[in-house]
Amino acid sequence: MTSISKLHKVMELKEKARLGGGEERIADQHAKGKLTARERLERLLDEGSFEEMDMLKTHRCTYFGMEKKKFYSDGVITGHGTIDHRQVFVFAQDFTVLGGSLSQTYAEKICKIMDMAYKVGTPIIGLNDSGGARIQEGIDSLAGYADIFLRNVMYSGVVPQLSAVLGPCAGGAVYSPAITDFIVMSKGSHMFVTGPKVVKTVTNEDVDEETLGGAMVHASKSGNVHFVTDTEEESLMILRKIVSFIPQNNMNEVPIIQTSDPIEREEESLNTIIPDSPVLPYDMLDVIYNVVDNGEFLEVQRYFAPNIICGFARMGGRSVGIVANQPKVLAGVLDINSSKKAARFVRFCDSFNIPLLTFVDVPGFLPGTIQEYGGIIQNGAKLLYAFAEATVPKITVITRKAYGGAYDVMSSKHLRGDVNLAWPTAEIAVMGAEGAVEILYRKELMSAPDQALLKQKLEKEYRDTFSSPILAAERGYIDDIIQPSMTRFKIIKSLVTLSTKTDSNPAKKHGNIPL
Ligand code: HXC
Repeated sequence: MTSISKLHKVMELKEKARLGGGEERIADQHAKGKLTARERLERLLDEGSFEEMDMLKTHRCTYFGMEKKKFYSDGVITGHGTIDHRQVFVFAQDFTVLGGSLSQTYAEKICKIMDMAYKVGTPIIGLNDSGGARIQEGIDSLAGYADIFLRNVMYSGVVPQLSAVLGPCAGGAVYSPAITDFIVMSKGSHMFVTGPKVVKTVTNEDVDEETLGGAMVHASKSGNVHFVTDTEEESLMILRKIVSFIPQNNMNEVPIIQTSDPIEREEESLNTIIPDSPVLPYDMLDVIYNVVDNGEFLEVQRYFAPNIICGFARMGGRSVGIVANQPKVLAGVLDINSSKKAARFVRFCDSFNIPLLTFVDVPGFLPGTIQEYGGIIQNGAKLLYAFAEATVPKITVITRKAYGGAYDVMSSKHLRGDVNLAWPTAEIAVMGAEGAVEILYRKELMSAPDQALLKQKLEKEYRDTFSSPILAAERGYIDDIIQPSMTRFKIIKSLVTLSTKTDSNPAKKHGNIPL
């Protein structure tokens, strides 16, 4: 064989690999409105940046006639490329090859790029579209999954790990995305531990795929998914956007981007955004949009526990992770789901050196048997734990209520908040005036000739004492009471000041967060 014919042979094999499961299967994929694995990578990565690895790898299985069903690449495309010129390692499951099912060889390919991403120190992005364990491979496929899970865990907090679910993702296949930092899911995709047929057999419940594990179900009910999109293209764009806000690894900082939005921009509307009555809501998103660079905010888990807002933005070109109570939903109360949502987000930001900006307007923890039985104590403690252990720069702005334990939890000075600011409308107290008066003056109120009048007087007295940030400022629990319109400027100045902050926690194997 001449060198030219050898080269032709390789080119031929690579061409075959590019066709995955064949033209018919590619047409089927398109007919379902789905892109192929390679088309997805083209859209995810900067043009022409993808370098493929293990393109000619095949499985070694000989059970059930598998020796006759070999496909180059074996159902998963792996390699590396760039997003906005920053390196990422990627894998894309190819449904056209045996339903994207996972063999031992396939798992080896994924593990190889995960190991390289760890050594190089770059994010790992996985595009999932698979029927799960390749049934013909039995235990070898299960072993392959476990090899991936182990790496997901070992590299958690070392390099960012992102997942997209763009088709079926069933059985054990769900656990790798679940360990990754963020999951983006496009509508029409499904994710569940057991599908509708098994559900029927085990629990006799009739449920379809969409109701059991559709994108909106995971975005709003289970909270497994962080972003939901109408199309695959949007999912891939969201992945690119997330990458823009995060560093390459836990030893790196996020690049600072030049911003056209003036640092000293004042926002007059914030001076009047707080309603006169403490029971009237306002939209905390308006506060966020008004202070961040160019009003750009990437909200995480928008449909899950909307009483707390989490997401990424830039301030003065610096990436920040924002956590904010949302008075518009359940008065911004902390409940089980909002505590879990925010705790995981805080821990992500802390793992990857992203400063935390917290806006507080919280009436406390949600009372009642549903919350108590469901574990509000344990779950609320997750958020407390997360803020307390975080060593990244922590800036807090109390806009209105900061009541009870929730005051402590929401990145207070006492949990190592670095810069704690309050608007003049802030109310820092053990509880609201109505509840306090009822507890403190129950007997007096019962015997009063005009209960309503006395109650009004006592509530006013309580409010005049506690419904202001001045007492907290006197004690140094907040560092400054600021004009709301100056919030952006004050935060950016603090971010710059804190940019060289170092802090640490006592040496330990790991803490025991109340999971
Ligand atoms: C081998 C598989 C496969 C699998 C699909 N295929 N899943 N081959 N192992 N797990 C093959 C099909 O036989 C078919 O091949 C081709 O892929 C396309 O599949 P279809 O069923 O025709 O496609 P569709 O109708 O779109 O349905 C997709 C699907 C369905 C919903 C994913 O295929 C399905 O339910 N698959 C099985 C899901 C599952 O139970 N997986 C195992 C989970 S257990 P041909 O050649 O006939 O076209 C698990 C344990 C892991 O994952 C534990 C790790 C800890």
